[in-house]
Amino acid sequence: MKSKLVIVLIVLVLVALALPVSNLVVGLPSNSLTKAKVDDATTAKALMIIGQKCANCHSTEVVRPFYASLPPAKGIVERDIRVGTRELNYLEALLPSDNQPVSEVVLAKTEHAIQVGSMPPTPYLMLHWNGALSGAEKQALLDWVRAVRAKHYVVAGVAPQFQNDPVQPLPEKVDLDARKVALGDKLYHDKRLSKDNSLACAGCHDLAKGGTDQQQYSKGVGGQLGGINAPTTFNAGFQFKQFWDGRAATLEEQADGPPNNPIEMASNWPEIIGKLKQDAEFTKEFTAVYPEGFSKETITSAIATFERTLLTPSRFDKFLRGQADALTADEKRGYELFKSHGCATCHAGKILGGQSFELMSRHGDYIADRGNRTDADLGRYSVTKREDDRGKFKVPTLRNIAITFPYFHDGTVKELKQAVEYMAKYQLGKTLAAADTDAMLKFLHALTGEYNGKPLGK
Ligand code: HEC
Ligand code: HEC
Ligand code: HEC
Repeated sequence: MKSKLVIVLIVLVLVALALPVSNLVVGLPSNSLTKAKVDDATTAKALMIIGQKCANCHSTEVVRPFYASLPPAKGIVERDIRVGTRELNYLEALLPSDNQPVSEVVLAKTEHAIQVGSMPPTPYLMLHWNGALSGAEKQALLDWVRAVRAKHYVVAGVAPQFQNDPVQPLPEKVDLDARKVALGDKLYHDKRLSKDNSLACAGCHDLAKGGTDQQQYSKGVGGQLGGINAPTTFNAGFQFKQFWDGRAATLEEQADGPPNNPIEMASNWPEIIGKLKQDAEFTKEFTAVYPEGFSKETITSAIATFERTLLTPSRFDKFLRGQADALTADEKRGYELFKSHGCATCHAGKILGGQSFELMSRHGDYIADRGNRTDADLGRYSVTKREDDRGKFKVPTLRNIAITFPYFHDGTVKELKQAVEYMAKYQLGKTLAAADTDAMLKFLHALTGEYNGKPLGK
């Protein structure tokens, strides 16, 4: 125990000594880097390497080399920093503001870039002979990824061979107050939450339709059409934020939206509470659990608690827990391809998504190709007003994806095959072999799970 502590201290001192030097060479200013939670040698080493070899293109606080201000290098360097930082800002990623561990997406992206050898980019390495990662540095970064995953993200019961996978199984159950869950279930299906008692949450998030309405845009009260596709409520409790643009931090905050939205349920809490209070039996049931009675807080608490139980385990989860024959050979190959092509760098974690905001178009311009640009296409930008966030969306979950059509925030793509082909084109910048697309489609179909023991979409 003591010797371990001594090693950690030595490493910390070494890091501290090395910092001023690395600052001149690269990017991460010491005052920022020292804010990182460096509580072990593996992390310290990884931060050093990223600071020296990656952060100069992947953060805005960069000390640029002198030639960077001279043309033509200026243009190239500026572009690398702009594109690289928009893709992945390591300064933000390594210093999460809310004291959270480094996200599963950042770990998966870093791991994948090392595995395929794409970073630092080749043109840069031709000018910077010492810029490449050495074998030992690659290993150190991979060790760091594994260590953070082991500490924060590995789900209990996952088979040993999948412990270091970017995707993890759904937990088998969540421990929540069953009485709140039951109340939330009722409220989720209660049309009194809408102005004319015509529409419940379930009207647009039908549990029999994979938690969606399977429409491009949803119909609100009076048949009013929204301008963005309704995502699923299944497994939404595992998302880091809610809505395509992440404007709600929690399910509670999210549930405050639709009742007040004039083109959705078009009501308000006083009106809804007035109606619920006339129902003596439900009032009794509700106050037995929430003695303070009906309010925005208690109603959204019950609905959110119910939503957290909307888990849909599938054959894929059995596979990750060690049952090798739970998937067919094609489905297994599809999962391997899903990882090797880099899909799992964004569609990571227990629900294969929901952990980050990402560009829809890293290659080409999906919106321009589609035409008719709308405000919904701004994505995360509408919340932060940061240029780097323009056209970024919360990555949708891929659980039950075969039944949550149509696809994308604009709901324009009806076929899952087309969605996968678009992802290959706009995210990976390539066309996949037909056999690869087919295998991945089979894998994606295997993500359709069951709810309360009943298969979805049947
Ligand atoms: C010379 C600038 C530069 C350096 C140095 C650099 N990157 Fe990048 N990086 C970029 C650019 C530009 C992109 C976006 C375009 C692309 O994918 O080529 C990018 C994209 C990425 C991505 C997301 C896309 C992918 O290919 O997976 C990851 C992850 C990444 N870099 C990690 C790293 C790591 C880790 C290092 C350090 C070992 C590093 N980068 C060093 C410029 C750089
Ligand atoms: C008129 C249709 C409609 C109704 C009614 C409705 N929603 Fe939604 N819901 C949507 C749409 C559309 C979105 C996406 C909006 C966006 O991201 O800007 C959404 C988003 C969500 C999300 C976020 C999912 C994600 O992946 O980000 C949750 C959770 C949710 N709704 C739950 C509810 C609950 C709970 C209710 C009832 C209180 C409800 N919805 C009522 C259409 C509806
Ligand atoms: C750089 C991050 C990133 C990568 C890599 C990526 N995706 Fe996506 N994926 C997204 C985002 C963001 C969206 C939502 C885009 C939108 O709605 O405009 C999305 C949407 C999807 C959808 C539609 C989901 C829905 O509910 O509408 C599918 C299916 C999908 N991705 C599959 C894949 C596959 C398969 C791959 C690999 C070939 C892949 N993705 C690679 C970020 C990514």
